[in-house]
Amino acid sequence: MASQSKKHYRIAWLPGDGVGQDVMEAARIVLDKVQLDAEYIHGDIGWEFWCKEGDALPQRTIELLKTVDAALFGAITSKPTKQAEEELVPELKGKGLLYRSPIVRMRQLFDLYICLRPCKAYTGNPLNYRDGIDLVVFRENTEDLYAGVEFHPVPQELKEVLSKLSKNFAPFEKLELDEYAVSCKINTRKGSERIVRAAFEFAKKYGRKKVTIVHKANVVRATDGLYLETAKAVAKDYPEIEYDEANVDAITMWLLKNPHNYDVLVAPNLYGDIVSDLCAQMVGGLGFGCSGNIGTQLAVFEPTHGSAPKYAGQYKVNPIATILAAKMMLDWLGETEKAEQIERAVAEVIKEGKVRTYDMGGSHSTLDMARAIAEKI
Ligand code: IPM
Ligand code: MG
Repeated sequence: MASQSKKHYRIAWLPGDGVGQDVMEAARIVLDKVQLDAEYIHGDIGWEFWCKEGDALPQRTIELLKTVDAALFGAITSKPTKQAEEELVPELKGKGLLYRSPIVRMRQLFDLYICLRPCKAYTGNPLNYRDGIDLVVFRENTEDLYAGVEFHPVPQELKEVLSKLSKNFAPFEKLELDEYAVSCKINTRKGSERIVRAAFEFAKKYGRKKVTIVHKANVVRATDGLYLETAKAVAKDYPEIEYDEANVDAITMWLLKNPHNYDVLVAPNLYGDIVSDLCAQMVGGLGFGCSGNIGTQLAVFEPTHGSAPKYAGQYKVNPIATILAAKMMLDWLGETEKAEQIERAVAEVIKEGKVRTYDMGGSHSTLDMARAIAEKI
């Protein structure tokens, strides 16, 4: 997964909006402390650009992403109601949905098919649900219900095709076209194969014992059925790693009951989105959840939290999620020593408990936290 370590890096710097700006400033303090030899190139992204240009991920930012080694991304405000869209783009009226989340677009445009979400309970974090939790979620990041193939109102042609092809469609046939909506869950064999393989490869590389395949194949027979069947085949290549499977609903209960029974989890896009939030909450919540959106050419790292507009510019939120995202970026670049330095410093500051942001019950600022971490490096 990691590329070769090299000297000078070009990093796309995408603060976005809201607290995205605050936490990125904090991450920079830590990156500068480990003396990564890099240029950080600002890229426009966010709600502001949607309002001004009708595009939250402008083409110039896409071009920038084509030229960099990796990207660090803050957060984006998104309020894509149909009404807001129609006000901004009047010609859209009655035509359907335009806004697509920029992070989802980045994942698809650059085929960042792995969403890697480590969830580790650092000793001394007052927000830990239980000590010792150390879960890693692999979420498929490009397909499934995120494919973006959605209809409301439903086109007449689609209605006709569905009536013809599925007897299960009968209850909807009498409805007007705007009285129902269709979102397509599209899963491919290739997409399932590569995310499950990434999870097993990770388990092998880092000595993890077990991989749990999360699905709902008993009900969602076609897509999850394909996913599960593919996962089983991939698992055969890794006989040394325990294979486990669980229904997505059941695993939310089991994770809460026995989090220590789990190790690496792998899930299709939407289940992975949900399960990774649950896992993040068990190790401290918004201030600790970090992600790597990883493809073969590019990877974009981000805190999992949103832009929390009400806290924007107040330097109040916990930057640890973003600092850990920067650590993941260093790992991916092959700068493992610097990555370890950061993680050790984060762990020490949490353990000491002297500097804590409001979510941890303290009153230190975003930048106090970043400086405390930098001082340990
Ligand atoms: C995440 C977020 C995104 C997602 C949103 C912001 C579109 O929840 O990264 O988990 O649904 O993937
Ligand atoms: Mg999410």
